[in-house]
Amino acid sequence: MRATATAQPNIALIKYWGKRDTALNLPAVGSISITLSDLYTRMTVDFDDGLEQDVLHLNDEPNDKLLPRLSNALDIAAGGDRPKARIISECNFPIAAGLASSASSFAAIVVAASAAMGIERSVGELANLAGRASGSAARSLYGGFVELENSGDAVVVGELLSADDWPLDVVVAVTATGPKPVGSTEAMEISRKTSPFYDRWVSDQPDDLASARDAIASRNFSALASIAEHNCLKMHSVMWSSRPAIVYWNDATLACLQTIRQLQSDGVAVFFTIDAGPQVKAVCDPADTATVEAALSATDGVRDILTSGLGEGARLT
Ligand code: PMV
Repeated sequence: MRATATAQPNIALIKYWGKRDTALNLPAVGSISITLSDLYTRMTVDFDDGLEQDVLHLNDEPNDKLLPRLSNALDIAAGGDRPKARIISECNFPIAAGLASSASSFAAIVVAASAAMGIERSVGELANLAGRASGSAARSLYGGFVELENSGDAVVVGELLSADDWPLDVVVAVTATGPKPVGSTEAMEISRKTSPFYDRWVSDQPDDLASARDAIASRNFSALASIAEHNCLKMHSVMWSSRPAIVYWNDATLACLQTIRQLQSDGVAVFFTIDAGPQVKAVCDPADTATVEAALSATDGVRDILTSGLGEGARLT
């Protein structure tokens, strides 16, 4: 009753922010993301009747902090009456700092837990289970360019283009490594209840999704850049206009945006996106990756640079 799965984080270009059903963790809006190749979470789930409690080892250290959410994901994937499990997780990038570690963790754990229990599930079923643990995790079941649509009691996730159809790179400028001040689940509810812009955010989303879908289908980089930056800044405007305000940015976040604006005016094919954390993700044409890495590394406050191409969805390993 043991299996190992690997999943990569995904970065939303058209963002998910807000829930329409908190019990089922269903998003209020659809979203479009790209799955990365070089950052990963590898998760082994070992169900063992002899254990009294779930145990988690993260990068070879015991970890009680992240255990409750992973235990909950095991309940979702294997039922509340499952045997207790030993979870061994290996993650090659900072956790809970806005780098979508929850997406790769929950995608990997539902794939591993289902296999360890001997339950055969379609990728769509696995995506829905991962999505119940963390909305964005549903997208990491797929590779390349991924769209998540809201549909009744479930989400429908599918690949718009594979990673090979339109290879892009993502250069992540790490501007802080600590955990975020407020988790996305709590922050989304604050926004839904208090931001005067929230309803408009939800009602505009189909237009943004359509624009991004068109840009991806025609591999139009500047059109994708324009809608992705707009959608990102709109999501952060909803956060900033919440009460209390939710501000994930730091000085270096803004400095990175200025660096990217300068690169754009120099003709470099690059755009930014930012999630629930202070890191800046610069999406670029691989021909420009070295230029983008050099410019972001030289930006004040940038502590580290991580670069990745686009990759495949979660799978057993
Ligand atoms: O899936 P969660 O609960 O980690 O929320 C993800 C929210 C954003 O990363 C900000 C946007 C997104 O679509 O991934």
